[in-house]
Amino acid sequence: MKGASHPTNDVSLNPSSNESIQDVISRVAMGRRQFLQGGISAAALASAGGLTLGGLLRTVEAAPVGPGLGFPGIGFESVPASLTLGSAVADALRVPNGYTAQLFVAWGDPIMPGGTPFIGDASESSLQQEKQFGEHNDGMHFFPLRADDRGHGGYDDDDDDRGERRGDGRLMSQAGILCVNNEYTHEEILFPDGQVGAGYTIAKTRKSQAAHGVSIVKARRRRGTWSVKRNSRYGRRITANTPVIISGPAAGHALMQTNEYMILDTGSIATGNKTDGYGGYGTVNNCAHGITPWGTFLTCEENFNGNFGAMELLPGATASEAGKMYNRYGLVAAGFGYRWHTTDPRWDMVANPNEPNHFGWVVEIDPYDPRSKPVKRTALGRFKHESAQYVVDRDNRVAFYMGDDERNEYIYKFVCKRPLNTKNNNANRNLLDEGTLYVAKFSSDLTGKWIPLLPATIGVDGVALRDNPNFTGADDAEVLAKILIKARMAGDAVGATMMDRPEWTGARPRIGGFSEVEVYCTLTNNNRRGSSVTPSSNAADGSTTAGSARPSVDAANPREDNIYGHIIRWREAGKSVTATTFTWDIFVQAGDTATTKTAKPTNDYKGNIVDTPDGSADFGAPDGLWFDYFGRLWVQTDQVGNGSGDWVNIGANCMACADPNTGEMRRFLTGPNKCEVTGVTMTPDGRTMFVGIQHPGEDSLAAIPTAFSNWPQGQFYVESDGVTTLPPGRPRSSVVVITKDDGGIIGS
Ligand code: FEO
Ligand code: CA
Ligand code: CA
Ligand code: CA
Repeated sequence: MKGASHPTNDVSLNPSSNESIQDVISRVAMGRRQFLQGGISAAALASAGGLTLGGLLRTVEAAPVGPGLGFPGIGFESVPASLTLGSAVADALRVPNGYTAQLFVAWGDPIMPGGTPFIGDASESSLQQEKQFGEHNDGMHFFPLRADDRGHGGYDDDDDDRGERRGDGRLMSQAGILCVNNEYTHEEILFPDGQVGAGYTIAKTRKSQAAHGVSIVKARRRRGTWSVKRNSRYGRRITANTPVIISGPAAGHALMQTNEYMILDTGSIATGNKTDGYGGYGTVNNCAHGITPWGTFLTCEENFNGNFGAMELLPGATASEAGKMYNRYGLVAAGFGYRWHTTDPRWDMVANPNEPNHFGWVVEIDPYDPRSKPVKRTALGRFKHESAQYVVDRDNRVAFYMGDDERNEYIYKFVCKRPLNTKNNNANRNLLDEGTLYVAKFSSDLTGKWIPLLPATIGVDGVALRDNPNFTGADDAEVLAKILIKARMAGDAVGATMMDRPEWTGARPRIGGFSEVEVYCTLTNNNRRGSSVTPSSNAADGSTTAGSARPSVDAANPREDNIYGHIIRWREAGKSVTATTFTWDIFVQAGDTATTKTAKPTNDYKGNIVDTPDGSADFGAPDGLWFDYFGRLWVQTDQVGNGSGDWVNIGANCMACADPNTGEMRRFLTGPNKCEVTGVTMTPDGRTMFVGIQHPGEDSLAAIPTAFSNWPQGQFYVESDGVTTLPPGRPRSSVVVITKDDGGIIGS
């Protein structure tokens, strides 16, 4: 029985806990104040009809979520929470009845010509890793390919790639290019002897760098099964050492001029020259992503600060411009414990002080041209980018919505100066180089403002940004360059709203009569808001140490000690992406219906997830968020993932599907032990879904890599005689492919 193992079922079987219809409506209405469109949960409907919740469990547990405006309904039943069995949850991925998940690609799999199979003990070299799928995959997108011009019956199952074109004609759902971010590495798993087992060497640095970045694979379906075409010309790795172009208003600025190195397998050798600030090497901490309307992939650089270090004392926050920037972006000598800087001076901030300024950008990649260089688009600002969701409005104006994922950071949008050229795609290729970056300010009356980060914008101190010492320059072009390089400090100066860790953004498709520009953002959690500690804000002068402020609760971030997170959304005024005002509401506060934690004045920890039976789709720490092409909203979570502590009733990380009109949710997938579920995309026909599972078995050490997980081997490696024999190995971040057994659209 669905949800039978969920503790809340015990509670909901007690009629005395049954909410009145008024309770439910007021609770739902409070949670999603303004955009409520008349939908109420099945639980509420059952209550109104006089059913006990005992009856409800038997009668409506399988009820589909009905369709609504621009939303096609949800046809599957929630998978039960994967709860802890001792100190771990099941080391398996689960999907609803009627669906099948298969392993598509895992860290270490060969993805391009010359690639070698995963060895199993992770003893491959950096050169081998450079041709294998990177570690710890995150955001991803499926770019369709159409049949080649020589007639293969609409299926790209020939043995070469020639003749394929961008999928803007007959969209293909049988073959495509999957672009996948590889966010970070776990050095204890990446090497047979762990990070420092037999010593730390440049060889380890190079392999770690090679496992970062982006993996581009050709995916194709043959005889019903999806696989990677291993020798495809589209197969490509972009790593921490791939040459990149830096473009846009900050390109070439003095802060972007770094020491020049020759990057060799044996080390990075300084040439003694400076770069010109128009080019550099690599992309790291590629968290979530975006795409563009012109068919390119955007990889977003998040916790780049963690990859840097210093062998000597860094300048303090008040010592210099560099010291102030390090402080505001969280760059410290020890980084996150990577040791790249000990063998590669490019990553040593004392040896090469401006190198961190090459990271924290949105990077554009053309997946259809394997020879193209990634381009860092500085016009979109420098912060810890999570994702970049585009919207094209009815006037063909284009905006990208973005979050800066750190405690008490901001939500931004970039509006391209020029409209989309719908007739000539080539005319759009540099649309990301000109436009205006805005930062969001949410007001308690459920309206908000987009504040432009431009030289003339007046800060909260009454001073124009061009006169703010953080951004002064020879002319406004230089001022703008500095505003973009120090976007966080510009947000501070104009008094942007400090948010509970903005993760993914997602735009609701304008289909089926829904015509608003409506954008959602996951606010995953915040443990530095509203405590007994004296409240503080990000200082307007940009002097705050990253993540150190403790703001009070506000309307947009209403919970202190926000363990479970929430999802906020906004609608642009006039249905235009160029609007400078918007209205907003909170779509859902996540939580644990059955929690016994003591409520705080602003926080009951229970949340207001609309699900049937109550508690059956509970989740927390929403992170991944994506609207599919049919109007379903998918939400993925990132919490501890082993069902311990605050997650005892919620269990493993999961992916839920939501009705954007009513907030009704179903749990679609639960992940293996100590993983994060992140990354989701579909073929254009909606019949194949790709989902990312990141860091299964997180925290294990090299001595026993499988201490917490041996996924995916444990679930998907089956001998042909049906007897499972696990190969030696280690947990591997992977992408799975999910299909509906009846061939239908995922979620239907
Ligand atoms: Fe990489 Fe904010 O998640
Ligand atoms: Ca609920
Ligand atoms: Ca994330
Ligand atoms: Ca997260």
